[in-house]
Amino acid sequence: MADVTSIQTSGSGPSPTPSKVWLITGASSGLGLALAQRALARGEHVIATARGDAPARFAELVASVSDGERARLRVMQLDVAAPYAEIAHVAQEAVAVWGRVDVVVCNAGVGGFRGVSEEFGRDVFLDHMRVNFLGAVNVINALLPQMRARRDGAVLIVGSRTAYRNEIAVRPVASCAR
Ligand SMILES: NC(=O)c1ccc[n+]([C@@H]2O[C@H](COP(=O)([O-])OP(=O)(O)OC[C@H]3O[C@@H](n4cnc5c(N)ncnc54)[C@H](OP(=O)(O)O)[C@@H]3O)[C@@H](O)[C@H]2O)c1
Repeated sequence: MADVTSIQTSGSGPSPTPSKVWLITGASSGLGLALAQRALARGEHVIATARGDAPARFAELVASVSDGERARLRVMQLDVAAPYAEIAHVAQEAVAVWGRVDVVVCNAGVGGFRGVSEEFGRDVFLDHMRVNFLGAVNVINALLPQMRARRDGAVLIVGSRTAYRNEIAVRPVASCAR
């Protein structure tokens, strides 16, 4: 079972909120972190997730936001390459925080490898498919039922234009996984 760690700044358990509840994967850096900050600044509720030690990885974010924003922020550990049962458990914990997840952002991804296709073995391709493709599929599947039940929700998948127009010949692995 995944080790889910939340930083709770006020209260706990489901409570209806007028703003949207976002869950963002890979939110400890880059675009995911920027999205988390922007959503908080807009008054949204954010469940920021990252693999590894989530409280440590989000310490800077937690310290940098206002008290009001901190009350709308939770952080959780989520490795999108984990088995589905672990992802489903984290999704359940996430839904329990504010009673729902309205927006899921599948941002976690890998893609830094550069080289021509034949230089990468099966393991590199599998790793990319596990994180970039199956990781997103599993997170979405784990959160879809509560969206279907409410007939409301949004799924955002951060991909790459190299998936349909590859201008970087030396990044075939990331391209195929998106
Ligand atoms: N920047 C670009 O030019 C570009 C272009 C095309 C697509 N993208 C895609 O855009 C998204 C955001 O990228 P970025 O530029 O903001 O780079 P980034 O800072 O490296 O963000 C990627 C995030 O994904 C996380 N991640 C990787 N594997 C994970 C896993 N198994 N479980 C959970 N989280 C995982 C990373 O966490 P760790 O720190 O633990 O590795 C990191 O926080 C990625 O999906 C990337 O593939 C970016």
